[in-house]
Amino acid sequence: MFDLPILETPLPTTVSPTIAPELTTLTPSLHDNVLPSTMKSGTSANAPKVYVETYGCQMNVSDSEIVKGVMHTSGYALTDKPDDADVIFVNTCAIRDNAEKKIHERLMHLKYFKKRRRDLVVGVLGCMAERMRDELMETKQIVDLVVGPDEYRRLPELVERAGTGEKGIAVKLSRVETYDDIEPVRTDGISAWITIMRGCDKFCTFCVVPFTRGRERSRAAHLIVDEAKRLQDAGFKEITLLGQNVNSYHDETTNIDFADLLRDTARAAPNMRIRYTTSHPYDMSDKLIATMAEYDNICKYIHLPVQSGSDRVLQAMNRHYTVEHYKERMRKIKEFMPHCALSTDIIVGFPTETEEEHQMTVELMREVRYDGAYMFLYSPRERTKAWKMEDDVPYDVKVHRLDEIVKQQQRIAGEINQLAVGTTEHVLVEGPSKRNPDTEWQGRTDTNKIVIFPHLTDKNASIHAGYVVGDMVKVKVERASAAAFFGQIVG
Ligand code: SAH
Ligand code: SF4
Ligand code: F3S
Repeated sequence: MFDLPILETPLPTTVSPTIAPELTTLTPSLHDNVLPSTMKSGTSANAPKVYVETYGCQMNVSDSEIVKGVMHTSGYALTDKPDDADVIFVNTCAIRDNAEKKIHERLMHLKYFKKRRRDLVVGVLGCMAERMRDELMETKQIVDLVVGPDEYRRLPELVERAGTGEKGIAVKLSRVETYDDIEPVRTDGISAWITIMRGCDKFCTFCVVPFTRGRERSRAAHLIVDEAKRLQDAGFKEITLLGQNVNSYHDETTNIDFADLLRDTARAAPNMRIRYTTSHPYDMSDKLIATMAEYDNICKYIHLPVQSGSDRVLQAMNRHYTVEHYKERMRKIKEFMPHCALSTDIIVGFPTETEEEHQMTVELMREVRYDGAYMFLYSPRERTKAWKMEDDVPYDVKVHRLDEIVKQQQRIAGEINQLAVGTTEHVLVEGPSKRNPDTEWQGRTDTNKIVIFPHLTDKNASIHAGYVVGDMVKVKVERASAAAFFGQIVG
């Protein structure tokens, strides 16, 4: 099931899953609670227990499933309660300063666990581990292991050594690691992630990802397609192909590109919804757009981060496209798929951004009319090119700019969603709603809109009896907000 990214500052006007924003935390209930049956019985009763807590983007969610796979294969049991754990892993994010602050706070808190149990092993994994390396070990006495995203195979060995008091750091980045042979431990549910590539070669000047995740590498296409088939057979209803930059996917052996892969996956798993994230405007080819349009089970939703509406700023960000190129891609998407929903990422206050350039972003967002946007204050990251530039847009100006686009985006998303009132949408049932879990359920349209509808326990909703999580239902939309549709099941 999708978790909803909780943003650091602004409210998202979309609640789509995306590579983009860091989750402040993934509630263990969604990701660790429901272990596949093999996990419950596969390990001995007194096997040491691992608890994994995940921060950051969906790549990290997917990586945590790999980490669990590695540990389970080595005889560890999995738990959703840190109190029960012999090993606690915190899978971290370094994308913005706020993301790291949250993790520092969490590590402070884990001190208490360690005080209670001296033999508890605490490991910091992921992007922050890669970025801070020994500094983390030196400053956080409770940390026993620091392990970067390409070294997860070594976790069992490092945990064992930590048990004898030996602290461990493993942060080498690889040009080839794709964890192909590791079976991820997925949460029982209807939606699954498939990582199709790792790393990023784009080197946007603001972004730490190329330094924390290393060079771009793609998994073999046939393995991805086989995995999709297996997930369909296992009862999953939806898969999301994941990468920082999925549309530069390239299987070197077969020359299969992302559009080919998407087509092959859609054909191999015709009963599942296929999504992907994130794509880069530079690599958004006609072929990819045409492929999306051709297959009904490829969801009509594209997250295409633009970052800024100014060509000069885009150049300073090393984004490799102009505003005109971006708009032309948007027109092409709408020409092939008039109802395709669009979302984006925006950074405000990149060094040297003037008020006039900011207004260009405001104007672009007004023109495109995104269904949703993730909007961020620029946060300087060490080792990036922009780190060397002066962070010269004052904080209050950044906040003001952010506020302006957030408000505009809320209004636009509200207006777009109003248009759905009176229509009937095909909704994949996900389960109880966040706000009123006892009386309401929620699902998603293929355009990734959240739809809330009464649950059968609701007195007025007896006609809805019989549907379960994973069903596809028709919902008549009765009202809409910027964040969701609300309606009744009609079939
Ligand atoms: N690979 C994706 C995005 C990955 S990071 C892409 O290229 O589109 C997710 C988003 O975080 C980015 O799109 C950007 O909007 C934001 N981001 C990245 N680095 C940032 C920084 N230093 N400060 C503020 N926002 C940042
Ligand atoms: Fe970062 Fe740019 Fe790569 Fe996205 S494309 S991960 S923003 S460097
Ligand atoms: Fe993702 Fe954060 Fe790393 S956004 S790739 S977990 S820096």
